[in-house]
Amino acid sequence: MDINEAIAGRRAVREYTVQAVDDRTIRRLIDAAVLAPSAVNQQPCTFTVVRDQNMLNRLSREAKSHMLATMAANPHSDHFKSRLENPDFHIFYHAPVLILITANGAGPWIVEDCALAAENLMLAAYGAGLGSCWIGFAQAYVNTPEGKNMLGLPAEWVSVAPIIVGHPKAAPPPVTRKEPVLHWIG
Ligand SMILES: Cc1cc2nc3c(=O)[nH]c(=O)nc-3n(C[C@H](O)[C@H](O)[C@H](O)COP(=O)(O)O)c2cc1C
Repeated sequence: MDINEAIAGRRAVREYTVQAVDDRTIRRLIDAAVLAPSAVNQQPCTFTVVRDQNMLNRLSREAKSHMLATMAANPHSDHFKSRLENPDFHIFYHAPVLILITANGAGPWIVEDCALAAENLMLAAYGAGLGSCWIGFAQAYVNTPEGKNMLGLPAEWVSVAPIIVGHPKAAPPPVTRKEPVLHWIG
């Protein structure tokens, strides 16, 4: 697929079929993620693949409670609160796979490194006919000792990008973008 087509066509997908994503495909997405640039070529990203639906259900419940208990006031608080309080809201949208991108260790650019890997992974998923979505609602909980313990992650790993992947039920409609603020110098 042409790179511009992938960049323009990728959408956050929030409805998935029950079809599984096979190991080889998941591996190809991770291979694309590791090709992202990283500061001082440190390549700090690690990848945890969760396909256990019971664990994803538990993670969704715990992450929602954690968000509700710790969420600071922000312009979206009311909207977030009503979604998180809804027992039927599944933060992973029942996707068949969660790929959690974490940084192995500290460093000034680990978040940037993992975010770049995440975008590569999401574009590669689109190129493979799959949908994906970054799930920020999971982020705080997977960084708690309880979240790391549930996933068997070492305490020093920092979770940056929880990305769900699966076969989309339908193509989501385009999402509008703001005009870029441009500041030309020279
Ligand atoms: C850091 C980050 C966190 C996000 N968290 C969530 C989330 O928790 N739940 C969700 O449904 N979408 C989440 N999204 C997806 C965005 O809502 C989505 O990318 C945005 O609305 C633009 O739509 P598009 O990806 O289809 O272009 C997140 C995206 C990013 C980059």
